Amino acid sequence: MRVSASTQNTLPVFPKLASANLDPLSVLGFREQGYTSFEQIVSESITGGYKEGYNGKVYLIPRMNNYVLKVLKAETLDTNLELVKDPLPERNISQIVARKGRYQILKRQYGITGGVPFQHFKRVFTSSLELKEIDNEYRDYIKMVHNMPQKAYEHLAETIVALNGINYHFDWSHGRNLIFNLDCNEINVVDLERGHIPLTVGHMVPPLLDTIYAYYRKNYLTDMSIPLNEIIQKAIEAALKVGLPIPNLLGEATVFEEHARMEFAFELAGNKGKWPSVRKKILSASKQA
Ligand SMILES: Nc1ncnc2c1ncn2[C@@H]1O[C@H](COP(=O)(O)OP(=O)(O)OP(=O)(O)O)[C@@H](O)[C@H]1O
Ligand SMILES: [Mg+2]
Repeated sequence: MRVSASTQNTLPVFPKLASANLDPLSVLGFREQGYTSFEQIVSESITGGYKEGYNGKVYLIPRMNNYVLKVLKAETLDTNLELVKDPLPERNISQIVARKGRYQILKRQYGITGGVPFQHFKRVFTSSLELKEIDNEYRDYIKMVHNMPQKAYEHLAETIVALNGINYHFDWSHGRNLIFNLDCNEINVVDLERGHIPLTVGHMVPPLLDTIYAYYRKNYLTDMSIPLNEIIQKAIEAALKVGLPIPNLLGEATVFEEHARMEFAFELAGNKGKWPSVRKKILSASKQA
């Protein structure tokens, strides 16, 4: 279908499902659980607690185990409720299944959110009070990541490989976009974005280490080098096993940031300056170079 220039500007980032005549509430099982309108889903959900990020708040939906409701903070034009095309039906990558204006229904990831909680992370910029307690939250987070079995790292690496295959990526800038399922031993991603970034292990390590918090507190977290180092090793091992690339396009603008983050991850783990040579060694051993 041709789209006019004016409607093109408002085209959603995530493509909607072609069969427009399906009733989203029936397709997604909301009617079965007593929901008769989208407004009812919103009003029943937003009375509960939420998890927050820069762009939105995410609520559990009463009686619905498989989905969560994300409410974007930015005002957007209201639209009809529409189903979104699932780019990877066989895998839970927290994809959007339906949306209406600033509301999105996402597949739910079960587990513990990674990183330092958003509300606490924000204090890094505003006050040094209580930062020692937040450092301890960071330490507890790193202990959890460190204790995850190798299988969980492989699951994350496989998910990132799958994202490469469908031209999606996730916001890899911090740990709150990882969810740790301790029952299934999985590490999963949330906060998907559409568009191709060739994801590598350099996009897996920074959120695992929540490097964005550690960046501001590195002088206080020097006691964490052993677990941090082992997490990096586990991530690299998982990447090699499942075919998630080691970044090898030095000099290209698109990979500059992941290199900088990897260099910082190595520094944090007590191996300042060693990432380039480690990288080379792995590449020549794995013949990816
Ligand atoms: N599909 C999901 N299943 C379970 N929890 C989720 C899901 N998506 C998001 N969350 C929770 O909500 C929080 C905020 O969600 P999300 O990262 O999508 O918001 P954001 O505002 O876009 O984040 P950011 O600050 O990274 O821009 C996450 O850290 C996570 O705790
Ligand atoms: Mg996020």
